[in-house]
Amino acid sequence: MTQRTALVTGGTGGIGTAIVRTLWRQGHKVATNYRNEAKAEAWLQKMVEEGIEVCMVPADVCDPAACTAMAAAVERQCGPVDILVNNAGITRDATFHKMDYQQWTEVVNTNLNACFNVTRPVIEGMRARRWGRIVQISSINGQKGQYGQANYAAAKAGMHGFTISLAQENARHGITVNTVSPGYVATDMVMAVPEEVREKIIARIPVGRLGRPDEIAHAVAFFTTEEASWITGANLAINGGHYMGW
Ligand code: CAA
Repeated sequence: MTQRTALVTGGTGGIGTAIVRTLWRQGHKVATNYRNEAKAEAWLQKMVEEGIEVCMVPADVCDPAACTAMAAAVERQCGPVDILVNNAGITRDATFHKMDYQQWTEVVNTNLNACFNVTRPVIEGMRARRWGRIVQISSINGQKGQYGQANYAAAKAGMHGFTISLAQENARHGITVNTVSPGYVATDMVMAVPEEVREKIIARIPVGRLGRPDEIAHAVAFFTTEEASWITGANLAINGGHYMGW
C-alpha cells in the first residue's frame, strides 16, 4: 500500500475522530484542523495514548485564507494532500420561519462554503500528481430534508452537487470525488437533539439503533483505496435503512 497524506477537516469531532483513526490504521499520515486550542490539545493527547500521530493545524474552514495556509502547513509537515475528507460540520436547527440569518449563514459557511475553501488549495497539486481522493461527508438530511433543518439540508445537498461536478472535471486526472451520507450517528451533534425527538427518530430506523462513527469511517476509507479508482460521483447512504431513496 502506498502511504498518502490525508487531511480530515473537523477531525476532533465524533465522526471525524473515527475517520482519522481509520485512515491512520490504513497506514496514511493524517492531518486535521482545529479552532479551539484547549479542546484540540485534550483530543491530541487521547490520540497519542492510542499511538496515533496527527498533524494539527489551526484553521477555521470558513476562512479561505486560513485554509490556504492550512494546506501549505500540512504540506510542509507531512507532505502534499492526496486524500481530503470534507467532514467539518455544524447544525443550528430551527424551523425556517424562526431561523435567523446567522443560523443560515453559519451552517452554509461551515458545511458547504468550506468545501470550496479547503478543496481549492489542494486540488491543483492532486491534478499535477495525477492522484487524489476527495470525500464529502454529507447527511441523510441532505437527501430527504428534515423538519427544522432548512439550512443544514440545503448545505448538505449542495455538498453532493459539488461532488458530482468535481468528479466530472477531475476523472481524467486520477482523482475520484465521492459523498458519504451518514444517517443519525451517536455523536454529540445527534445527542444534542431533544431526547423525545431523538427517540422518535430512532424508532424510524429499520436497523433499530443509531450508527457508530466507525461505521461511517469504514466507508470513507473504502473510497480512498487504490481499488476504488473507478468509483467517482457516488453518494453512499449509511443510515441503518432510515432512508432508501435512489
Ligand atoms: N415532523 C412534523 N412535525 C414536527 C416535526 C417533524 N419531524 N418535528 C417537530 N414537529 C412539530 C411539533 O410536533 C410541534 O407541533 P405542535 O406545535 O403542533 O405541537 C411543532 O413542530 C414545533 O415543534 P417544537 O416544539 O419541537 O419546536 P421548536 O421550535 O422548539 O423546535 C426543532 C423545532 C428545532 C425542529 C426541534 O424539533 C428539533 O431539534 N428537531 C430535530 C431536528 C433534527 O433531526 N436535527 C438533526 C440533528 S443531527 C444531524 O443533523 C446529523 C445528521 O446529519 C443526521
